[in-house]
Amino acid sequence: MTKLWGGRFTKSADKTAEGFTSSLSFDRRLYRQDIRGSIAHARMLAKQGIIPAEDADLIERGLREIEAEIEAGQFPFRQEYEDIHLNIEKRLIEKIGPAGGRLHTARSRNDQVVTDVHLWVKDEIDAVQRLISDLQGTLLDRAREQMGVIMPGYTHLQRAQPVLLSHHLMAYFWMLERDYGRLADARKRADLSPLGAGAMAGTTFPIDREFTAAELGFAGVYPNSMDAVSDRDFIIEFVAAAAICQMHLSRLAEELVNWSSTEFGFVEMDDAYATGSSIMPQKKNPDVAELVRGKTGRVYGDLMALLTVLKGIPLTYHSDLQEDKERLFDAVDTLKACLTVMTGMLATVKFNRERMAQAVRQDFSNATDMADYLAKKGMPFREAHEVVGRAVLYCIERGKFLADCTMAEFKAFSDLFEEDIYQAIAPETCVNLRTSQGGTAPAEVEKQLALAAGILAAR
Ligand code: ARG
Repeated sequence: MTKLWGGRFTKSADKTAEGFTSSLSFDRRLYRQDIRGSIAHARMLAKQGIIPAEDADLIERGLREIEAEIEAGQFPFRQEYEDIHLNIEKRLIEKIGPAGGRLHTARSRNDQVVTDVHLWVKDEIDAVQRLISDLQGTLLDRAREQMGVIMPGYTHLQRAQPVLLSHHLMAYFWMLERDYGRLADARKRADLSPLGAGAMAGTTFPIDREFTAAELGFAGVYPNSMDAVSDRDFIIEFVAAAAICQMHLSRLAEELVNWSSTEFGFVEMDDAYATGSSIMPQKKNPDVAELVRGKTGRVYGDLMALLTVLKGIPLTYHSDLQEDKERLFDAVDTLKACLTVMTGMLATVKFNRERMAQAVRQDFSNATDMADYLAKKGMPFREAHEVVGRAVLYCIERGKFLADCTMAEFKAFSDLFEEDIYQAIAPETCVNLRTSQGGTAPAEVEKQLALAAGILAAR
């Protein structure tokens, strides 16, 4: 089997070295983008009079047949031809003869490969954004449905202040909203065509880069051919955005794991998103959430691997750059899988309202409100903080909560306390009065829900 670059070689490749350099096993995923890129290139070559129009037609038809072969599982993949790009070109020449040999005029694999990856990344950013929107939609639905449910909000994993469950859920909506925006930004920078950069210095043929860019739906072209073939920061940026999004999913997963423990008891996973134990019959484990958390390590690893691969590469193309693909694919596959299961899991999780309601009655998360009560009656806040701190200690020592104190006990802490203190430290009051912008009061949360719904409706 002759290699497409075999001319200057007298010896055939060592089989181990051949297997080592081949990227076919993973870059075959780029076949569609490769064929698109080649068709655009062939059309441009014909338009510019660089190859005969009949040859361009033959090339286009041949490539479409090859695409059908690949899709039907009938394409003869051959590792000896290194990668998907050479496999397709070799097959084209087999099918249409010398015309096929004209396709690679004024092109190098260096600009070809990275063009394919740009096309792939743009499509995948769109797909990830759709999945993010789905998850946001589910968060919004659940937040709407759970309006009015009060739960403890935490800092340091200690009960802090009562909040609406909907407020807590919507916090994740906004994280995902920033992820969506980061992907949109990354997409802008991925939207340049490297095609026509050639091996790295451009080409002696009168090509039209703007034409191929427009054919492929790119917003513009890389202004520098050397940069074009060696840029991989569009990949790193995408994977960085993926890593941040994955981190958000991991935090949410961690909450679900915690909340489904007996200790919290705030949620119960749907059976479809949990598994049992092979030995402990009572168990229902939140495996899906745990795996979302665990797989976050892969995406971080992908990002770190990419940064490391790139850091020592002088201009321009080096084979190190072939190492970009598996990391990119892995990050995208992982993120998409996690977004998908997270959406299903959140859509079906049961919130245990009674348990949450009970949790906010049996804790000190209303202590700030008790201090605010005194401050509103004129006591300096620092002093109020001290008074309530003493009241909390008093209650802890007696095994009770603030709301269990008698009026006489309250009066002993401060004579500013009146009958309305009970109302003031009820969890509903704590939530309802936090009307500052972005706060947990129902009216403010309703505003978030409306804002969020508007954002999703505009997509
Ligand atoms: N398969 C390689 C990659 O993915 C393409 C080879 C580009 N050029 C070369 N001279 N080896 O990066």
